[in-house]
Amino acid sequence: MFHNTLCNAVIVASTLLGLLSSTAFGLGSTCSSPLTQGSAAASDPFWMQNIAHQGLAAFNSNPSGYKVFRNVKDYGAKGDGSTDDTAAINAAISDGGRCGQGCDSTTTQPALVYFPPGSYKVSSPLITLYQTQLIGDARTPPTLLAASSWSGIALIDADPYLAGGAQDYVNQNNFFRSVRNFVIDLRAVAGGATGIHWQVSQATSLINIVFQMSTAAGNQHQGIFMENGSGGFLGDLVFNGGNIGATFGNQQFTVRNVTFNNANTAINAIWNWGWTFQRVTINNCQIGFDLTQGSTSNTGAQGVGAEAIIDAVVTNTPTFILSSAPSSGHLQGSIVLNNIQLTNVPIAVGVAGGATVLAGGTTHIDSWAQGNVYHGTSQSATFTQGNIASISKASVLLDSTGRIVSKSHPQYTGYAPGDFVSVRSHGAKGDGHTDDTAAIQSILAQYAGCKIIFFDAGTYIVSNTITIPAGTQVVGEVWSQVVGTGSQFTDYNNPRPVIQVGTAGSTGTVEITDMIFTTRGPAAGAIIVEWNVHDPSGQQAAAGAWDTHLIIGGTAQSSLQRTQCPTSGSGGNNCFADFLGLHLTSGASAYLEGMWVWLADHDLDSGGSTQISLWSGRGILSESQGPVWLIGTASEHHINYQYFLKGAANHYIGLAQTETPYFQPNPVPPSPFITNTAYDPTTLNTGNAWALTVQSSQNILVFGAGFYSFFSNYNTACQSSQNCQNQIVNIDSSSTIGIYSLTTVDTTWQLSVNNQGVINRSLNPNGFADTVSAWTRN
Ligand SMILES: *[C@@H]1O[C@H](CO)[C@@H](O)[C@H](O)[C@H]1NC(C)=O
Ligand SMILES: *[C@@H]1O[C@H](CO)[C@@H](O)[C@H](O)[C@H]1NC(C)=O
Ligand SMILES: *[C@@H]1O[C@H](CO)[C@@H](O)[C@H](O)[C@H]1NC(C)=O
Repeated sequence: MFHNTLCNAVIVASTLLGLLSSTAFGLGSTCSSPLTQGSAAASDPFWMQNIAHQGLAAFNSNPSGYKVFRNVKDYGAKGDGSTDDTAAINAAISDGGRCGQGCDSTTTQPALVYFPPGSYKVSSPLITLYQTQLIGDARTPPTLLAASSWSGIALIDADPYLAGGAQDYVNQNNFFRSVRNFVIDLRAVAGGATGIHWQVSQATSLINIVFQMSTAAGNQHQGIFMENGSGGFLGDLVFNGGNIGATFGNQQFTVRNVTFNNANTAINAIWNWGWTFQRVTINNCQIGFDLTQGSTSNTGAQGVGAEAIIDAVVTNTPTFILSSAPSSGHLQGSIVLNNIQLTNVPIAVGVAGGATVLAGGTTHIDSWAQGNVYHGTSQSATFTQGNIASISKASVLLDSTGRIVSKSHPQYTGYAPGDFVSVRSHGAKGDGHTDDTAAIQSILAQYAGCKIIFFDAGTYIVSNTITIPAGTQVVGEVWSQVVGTGSQFTDYNNPRPVIQVGTAGSTGTVEITDMIFTTRGPAAGAIIVEWNVHDPSGQQAAAGAWDTHLIIGGTAQSSLQRTQCPTSGSGGNNCFADFLGLHLTSGASAYLEGMWVWLADHDLDSGGSTQISLWSGRGILSESQGPVWLIGTASEHHINYQYFLKGAANHYIGLAQTETPYFQPNPVPPSPFITNTAYDPTTLNTGNAWALTVQSSQNILVFGAGFYSFFSNYNTACQSSQNCQNQIVNIDSSSTIGIYSLTTVDTTWQLSVNNQGVINRSLNPNGFADTVSAWTRN
């Protein structure tokens, strides 16, 4: 279960500066004819269909022959609503000898499988192999139409079961997948049918999908079936009909903007350690959330550990939440509700077959919790099933309706191929060895703000800082990689950014999607992304990134795999992977959705998930005054901290997921780095990394966290006594801070103030993990 992790790494660098620095206001300040709107005609397909397809898999065994982009129609799919397209679509996915059964994982076989508009009949599962994106035309989303003869686990299957229960991929290591822009229609199936089997982990997303299911009494349709994994983000989904909208079981997940209409049960939660649901809409269902599965003891099957629900709207539904009967000292089934509008919902929270815990009606729930609530430095838990103090949210984080800002992954549906400029067409090679620094700098200098900058799939090596000026839109292709390497990035006494997003004081739009930023080792002095841009006044979330990750080490391009860096430590200084992952500077704002800042704990290309020992000094540092939205982010295996808020303000973070390095406390932080006062907290943790440390900050809202420690010096024996780590979250005298739905694993003190343990895990058992429903300080 704690196998997780991944990775890869490299970075980029270069110094465009001077030229394009801090002057940008919105699009276009750096070019003569700014791109202010797209030029697609009404009858045009989505730009992705006809843009030049020049992506390459630089580390594939056959880079010149391997196709990254596949249009299912080129493989014989008809999309005519009657031909069975199953085999053709599976041929499009699997072309090129890709990573299926027995492969485990890969970083050398990315595929983008594209569906033009149409209705594609499917009679058995479409097997999405590792490192695959399935993308429909975003202007006219294609339909995947279940044949009346349908049989199989789901129309889209992200982790097939084999005979005997084995699976193609380890559920906690099932990375790098996305499905976007589809209608999935199950209505022709008289019996049971499921839309998507989504058993996945980090760096995965489901975006813009409508599930059409039966509304007949007794129907057996289900939109999503997810029973395991360590995800992940999903959002902008609509479920119409069905017996169950979505079955959700996974360690942790972040959900934003999902709507359920006319299902029996909208969400059937089967187990978790912690989930965050932002902006769920439920109309005309029988039950909103069914949380009754699993045990309420600490020894039975894991039930639903923690649900954090914010900004939900529920209408004409008899029961919003149906739960078990939790109590202090057992599986608490932590629930935190904030800003919930009920209209004709008689029961807000009810125990199955028993009492109403919270009456509904037509009413508004401000802030309510079930579970243990703490305040300040008090060590005593108050088991609560009732209203809690209003959750404090900085107004800059909220939209005009008073909800946390929500912004979908930009897909540029109004734009035509001519609105994009390909970096490969303009001199960058992306072949994994050519130094593309000058080419990328020159493309940005010429086109930033005038065209959308398209990084064709590939591995772009840079030897100096690359500045992406305010006003730029960057689009990758199945996670195009920009990799910083070389002498500019090796000195940890003089750390430098690989990617610099804007410069100090810059304001404007920045949108980055489907990219990976990383290093090639050794890179002890690399700050992989330094983010400086702030939203223009009145344009919330204009500066953001979606489905963009920092995958550091573990990948074929990284020179940080098992041959170089085995767990014996014999790789020495060559195993420094980066100094710091992401730095949000004080002038920045940021909307980051679905971002994984991962220092690889294992090799992704060796099969068998072989562990490796790499060193990343720090994960995410924010000094931003906000607004900052970190929606569905994770930061894992960095030495000093995963998240550090330093003099920061006005942040919404939900859900945040971390893991401590497996080798700690051998050596203890900051070793093998040294402390750097500009980037490190006043006090490092003793022995292990901080998952979250907050210093001199204010107006911080963490709404869902999963902070895990599974190892001590690579040994899991500490799990039996649940003390792999002593402290994990530290807060100094920061003010107006609330941490809700905080789940930790195998950590003695769940939260400390000024380095003194406050919350003793023994009071908060919640199945496998331990959960605090609320901790606040004014
Ligand atoms: C996967 O989920 C099922 C259903 O919750 C559970 O019984 C099984 O143990 C899980 N398997 C793993 C490998 O976590
Ligand atoms: C929510 O998702 C729907 C369906 O994809 C989309 O139309 C809508 O714009 C999204 N709303 C927000 C606030 O993200
Ligand atoms: C946590 O509480 C338990 C039960 O009261 C106690 O035995 C244990 O010593 C406490 N842990 C620490 C580190 O104080």
